[in-house]
Amino acid sequence: MNNNIKKLVRKVVLDLKPYQGGKPISQLKREKGISRIIKLASNENPFPPAKKVIKALRDSLTKINLYPDGNGYYLRNELAKRAKLKRDNIILGNGSSEIIAMVLETFVNPGEEVIIPEPSFIIYKGLIKLRDAVPILIPLKNYKLNLPGMLKAINKKTKMVILCNPNNPTGTIIKKEELKKFINGISKNIIILSDEAYSEYVEDKKFGSAFPYLKSKKNVIIARTFAKSSSLAGLRIGYGIAKTEIINEVNKVRPPFNTSSLAQVAALTALKDKEHLKRTKKNNREEKKYLYENLKKLGLSIIPTQTNFICINLKRDASAICQRLEKEGVIIRAMSNFNLPDFVRTTIGTHQENVFFIKKLKKIL
Ligand SMILES: Cc1ncc(COP(=O)(O)O)c(C=O)c1O
Repeated sequence: MNNNIKKLVRKVVLDLKPYQGGKPISQLKREKGISRIIKLASNENPFPPAKKVIKALRDSLTKINLYPDGNGYYLRNELAKRAKLKRDNIILGNGSSEIIAMVLETFVNPGEEVIIPEPSFIIYKGLIKLRDAVPILIPLKNYKLNLPGMLKAINKKTKMVILCNPNNPTGTIIKKEELKKFINGISKNIIILSDEAYSEYVEDKKFGSAFPYLKSKKNVIIARTFAKSSSLAGLRIGYGIAKTEIINEVNKVRPPFNTSSLAQVAALTALKDKEHLKRTKKNNREEKKYLYENLKKLGLSIIPTQTNFICINLKRDASAICQRLEKEGVIIRAMSNFNLPDFVRTTIGTHQENVFFIKKLKKIL
């Protein structure tokens, strides 16, 4: 690299590492020349989008010479209607990742602190540092968010708290009662961002979404996505929900035309298709059981999950096992970047994928 560039780049960017997602199937094919490869590394939906969604996308293809409706009128309308809120309570993002980035950009000044769980979704730390702000990491307790610990960490410099609920990579949830105590204990000067990317998969009735607090005096923002349960990860579309005063401010930092016309059409159609969600949830429920049983037979323990992924304790260096699995055509995620070196995280796939994964894992162990 030209050394001059290093001198020009912001110090905080020099120290960052690019986001590393799960390895794409095409990359492993290129590297290893294997024919059958399954990817269970990025918590994607194993099913393609609903047929209606594909049709709507086809019908919209001839219009992509035009810019999209930057305000996403129809999709925001539909989301608002379902949430019994107003369109001005919703903002669209290029994935919920962009919602998280925009919220930080709107509220967090250099030097301010943002409290986050650790381990949790890996992008929080980098996005906070990009603001020249300070991530304050609160370790999980029994693999769950330590809400009392997060409350205790609040001081004069705190601007925001991010909750990942359910938490990635542990798959654990915050219960209603716990969230109530937390929100009651927090001041109005602090922004609470609840990242609920996996909420559609939750089966536990005690799950506490931040939804009931949107109309409270506290400053709550919820980030959700169509990437997981709606099978639209490749189109990049998510949304934020909050009171109008908050959305109006975040809307000022939203890049022009940040969500494509295809993404908007696909998300709008996906919302109206209950069958796809039903099929997705059924598969997840049944296959979670299959994986639990078969991992137990292999003598492995897991963290019980409320999501479409499972954290597995291999009780040995998980990176080495992941490398060997890749040679066998299975891409999963070692959790060393998440401070869980003995753990892997696997997405719950289709039955065929899960059978293949268990077969290869058994062979290696
Ligand atoms: C906890 C969590 N939040 C948000 C996202 C981002 O999803 P997207 O930007 O695809 O909507 C992910 C993706 O894996 C995630 O795990």
